[in-house]
Amino acid sequence: MILEGKKILVCICGGIAAYKINHLIRDFVKKGAEVQALLTPAAEDFVSKLTISTLSKKPVYSQFYSENGTWNNHVELALWADVMLVAPCTANTLAKMVHGICDNLVIASYLSTKCPVFIAPAMDLDMYQHPSTKQNLELAEDYGHFIIPAETGELASGLIGQGRMAEPETIASEIEKFFNSSFSHQLHGKTVLITAGPTYEAIDPVRFIGNHSSGKMGFSLAEEASKRGAKVILITGPSAQITSNKNIEIHRVTSAKEMFDQVFKHYDQADIAIASAAVADYAPKEVAREKIKKNDDSLTIELVKNPDILKTMGERKTKQFLAGFALETENELENAKAKLIRKNLDMIVLNSLKDEGAGFKTATNKITILTPSEINEFPLKNKSEVAKDILDFIASQILK
Ligand code: PMT
Repeated sequence: MILEGKKILVCICGGIAAYKINHLIRDFVKKGAEVQALLTPAAEDFVSKLTISTLSKKPVYSQFYSENGTWNNHVELALWADVMLVAPCTANTLAKMVHGICDNLVIASYLSTKCPVFIAPAMDLDMYQHPSTKQNLELAEDYGHFIIPAETGELASGLIGQGRMAEPETIASEIEKFFNSSFSHQLHGKTVLITAGPTYEAIDPVRFIGNHSSGKMGFSLAEEASKRGAKVILITGPSAQITSNKNIEIHRVTSAKEMFDQVFKHYDQADIAIASAAVADYAPKEVAREKIKKNDDSLTIELVKNPDILKTMGERKTKQFLAGFALETENELENAKAKLIRKNLDMIVLNSLKDEGAGFKTATNKITILTPSEINEFPLKNKSEVAKDILDFIASQILK
């Protein structure tokens, strides 16, 4: 049994969905897992410590000190766990987790833990849609946590929408999937090189030519490859994206030439290379030493071609499985196919700016994966889900 002997730290927050956790804990224990439950102070109004400790066969903690004055050591609890699950995760606890507001035992344990963290949010639909919740979920993903998205249905408020905590069976199966060594070791021993973000090509000391790439797609790919056991080398242009994932070796560059140099410092060791960066095709021939003054009515800047990093990767390919991206605005399939062949790629991920919610900056993307012999279309999804589709596809190609 996959969960046999696994240590699961279940952190319960104050939301109505907390009543479902009893079933989940029972299921974990039946499957051979050891469960230690922690409650936020608000969760005590929703669940009974007696029920949970009976099901988990362990005392349940909600405060830093127990009634007899002993310290409930959050560091020990955090280091004991093989995985931590926060369910239901309220908007409040989510915000405290990602911003480090450490005012209860659950957050102190979370901040002390080194194990993978699963988050099953639950809240009313407007809270779930709120930009701050969305941003906090994105931050949690950037930290490398596994989000089990809320489901759509009738909510405690009587409203209908997305916000219901995923069903206990879904949560259990996500955690089982993680422990299933064929997934978490799928890319074990492989090195994945990923380019991300835009490049900035200097015009003068204050101006540059750039583009709208946020780096989100590339960072999501890096997190997903790491979750599958790969060593990840991420080379990113200027991006506000961050990662605290220690398995991702990150190199930050500015221009296409710098990206080229970094890529080819690491390319030989890569088994898989994914070029999601939006690299500037041209750069100013000369970079003015001083800020250009607006003396004339017009200004001409001569541009010269940048090196094509992906094309060079294709030329220097030895063992690498090479995946490129194509960002198109017209004749999408034809253009993507032409790039696939011209750059000697094994596959190309097409995203079109004509599709709403696809491409730059958005949290979502809509892709079509092309190989020399097939075309696979995917629906609009969150970029972390898109990253899963891309890596599933790559795994199916290299592991067949
Ligand atoms: O960063 P996000 O905001 O999340 O947005 C993601 C994205 C839209 C940037 C991403 O999904 C994407 O489409 N990246 C590729 C964008 C692009 O530059 O496409 P292209 O069709 O111009 O380039 C084709 C391929 O060649 C790309 O893999 C690109 O990385 C590569 N290239 C291009 C030019 C160059 N000089 N060197 C390259 O390596």
